[in-house]
Order: sequence, then C-alpha cells, then structure tokens
Amino acid sequence: MFTATCVAPVNMALVKYWGKRNEELILPINDSISMTLDANEMCAKTTVAASESFKENRMWLNGDEQPFQANARLQRCLDGVQRLALAHGGAHRFPLSWKVHIASHNNFPTAAGLASSAAGYACLVYTLARLYDVPLDEQLTTIARQGSGSACRSLYGGFVQWQRGSSADGSDSIAVQLSPATHWPNMHMLILVVNDARKKTGSTSGMQRAVETSALIQHRATQVVPQRSKELKVAIEKRDFNAFATITMKESNQLHAIALDTFPPCVYMNDVSHSIVNFVHEYNEEAGSLHVAYTFDAGPNGCLYVLDEHVPHLLAAIQLAFPNDAQQSVEYLKGIPVPAVAVKNGFGENSASVYHINARNTLKYIIHTKIGEGPCQLGDEKSLLIDGLPL
Ligand code: DP6
Repeated sequence: MFTATCVAPVNMALVKYWGKRNEELILPINDSISMTLDANEMCAKTTVAASESFKENRMWLNGDEQPFQANARLQRCLDGVQRLALAHGGAHRFPLSWKVHIASHNNFPTAAGLASSAAGYACLVYTLARLYDVPLDEQLTTIARQGSGSACRSLYGGFVQWQRGSSADGSDSIAVQLSPATHWPNMHMLILVVNDARKKTGSTSGMQRAVETSALIQHRATQVVPQRSKELKVAIEKRDFNAFATITMKESNQLHAIALDTFPPCVYMNDVSHSIVNFVHEYNEEAGSLHVAYTFDAGPNGCLYVLDEHVPHLLAAIQLAFPNDAQQSVEYLKGIPVPAVAVKNGFGENSASVYHINARNTLKYIIHTKIGEGPCQLGDEKSLLIDGLPL
C-alpha cells in the first residue's frame, strides 16, 4: 500500500469569484484574488492510500463515508490528477489502475458556515499529486478548480490570483501566486463568527442564479473586476493597506449587491453582519485612516483584515461594541492569548460613545489568524487511515 497525507489552507477572497461561464468545467466569468490563511488555525487534512487489494474507490469526510461514484467533482479530481500522472510518464511506484481510499478532515467547525470546500478540494488534489508524483504547477490548479472554483487558490500561500482564462477547455483558467506570505507577514485576520440559523442558498446555486438573472453581474465582470484586480495587485505589491482595504470592502459590498440583484434574491448577510460593517467604518473613522477591512463570503460571518500591530486595539474595540458573556474565554477567542484581550489600551473616557453598542451575544466566537503558506505533506505517522480504513 502507498499513502500520502497532506494539509491545505483556507483562502479568503479579496476580489470575489461569483459566476461561471461553464458549470461543468467550473470556468469563472471574472478573475479573483485571495489571501491564503495560516493552516495552523484552519486547514483540511487528507490521506490517500492506493492498494492492489482495494476493490473500489472510497471516501470518508470527517469520518462519514461519502458516495464516490455519484460525486462528479470528486471523480473529476481523481481522473484529472491521474491524467497528469500519465502525461508525466505514469505513476512511478504503482499502477494507476489501483483503487484509492481517501479520508479527509477539517480542523474547523463546518457548522460555523466557514467555507470548507476550498481547503478540502485543494487538499484532495494536492495529496493525490503527492501520491502520483505529479508536480505542483498551473495544470494542477486547473484540476483543483474542477473540485470547487475557489480551491485552485488554496494551492499556493500568500496572495493568489485565479485568472479566468479564455479557452473553451479551461486550460488557461489557472491560479498563480502574486506574492508569498513573507511579502506581507504582518497581515492578520479576525473572523467574527455570527450566530445564525437560517438556511441559505449555497455558492454554487447562488452564483448560477446570479448569472441567469442579475442585470448587474456582466457589468461587474467586464468593467469593475478588471480595474479592481489591477489596483489591488499594485496595493499588495506596495503593501498599501489603505488602497487594499478600500478595494476589499467595495468588493465585498458588490458581491452582496449582486446577490440582492439576483431574482429571487440571495441574502447572505444578516443584521449582525451589517452591524460589523458599521463598526468597521466607525473604527476607521476614529483611527483617522483605514486600519481594518471587512469582507463577507456567501454567509453572515465577517472577516476582518488588519495589520498585526493593530490587533490588540481592534479586539478591545470589538469587545466593547459586541459584548459577550463568554468574552474572556478560550472558546470565544480562538487563536488569541486571553490576557491580550483584557487590555483596553488606547481607549479614552469617550470610547463607548464612538461605537454603536450591539445587543449581547450576537457573535458566536472570534478566530484570530494570519496570512499563511500553501499545502504541505506530513509524515506517515499523521495518516488518517490504518490498513486503508479511517482511524
Ligand atoms: C463567495 O468555490 O464555493 O467564496 O466553484 O461552485 O464550488 P463552486 O463555488 P465556491 O465559491 C466561492 C465563492 C465565494 C467567493 C470567492 O471565494 O471568491
């Protein structure tokens, strides 16, 4: 039996991917740009084993077996990596005809509504590539893209662009690294996980309906995104947080404007999400320049980009504006040394009047993370499979 075990990170889009021009090949109508998050805080972990004795391909996600044949995206990723292996002279260690067993885990709660498909498919494709000795290159990103569009951006660390491409077969719809995590190492993020129980439209069907019914989406794809992508690349290159923050917040707002322009509309943000938006604008006003930028994906959680040096002050302001019964606990503050939050540094007598104070307990918890590297392979002792079956 041959195995490989890897972890892959989550990425958070700055310029959003929203809308496909080909559903099956997952070809987007516009470029997108993201930041990869530190895999120590949030990641997917996958083991793939290949053996002559396996009767069929099988897959377990968070311990539960998933139907393999019925999952077209999963099948396409496996076929895609095997095709690349053939193009590189065949699997070097064992026949490609051997069946595989796959086990995958997320180390963050999927119930929180945080996108897990990007890290999951990136990890699957990267692990298959390690098993079949396929290099990480543009072609591999075209395979991850066919698992979930945003997954292609999780194959690299730092800042990553997914170029929409123009060919019908998708061969030029690839992800490229703009700069590694070391280029802007003090770029941090606070994720405000919002209490919310509503059932929402998933990204795949939400963006499909947007392409079919939104009158604004083509304008966004052809006019707005090309200009913003160009400007954001310059902002990243110059480490210009002000420009970075402006583009990021406008991008998030436009994604949700398009969602509302969809018919029937898709509503992803809730009242708490809008309170987070207001809070960030109040905070930046008080700071005298842009110190924080929000972005929201297809859900209510707010992701705040902030430089390392501003994290303690921002956190103290969040604690003030979003009071919570659990606010000093390690369960509420994930990835934050708790004493750091007790500091109310920089807050004067009038600080409470700067911010609108929200109702108690509107946030479920806060995750502190930062820019991070791409996927990596782990040793066999970290395997999620024993004798080809989940632990
Ligand atoms: C809002 O990659 O989950 O997070 O390609 O249909 O699997 P599929 O969609 P998915 O969409 C992510 C959309 C987004 C924005 C982004 O990540 O760019």
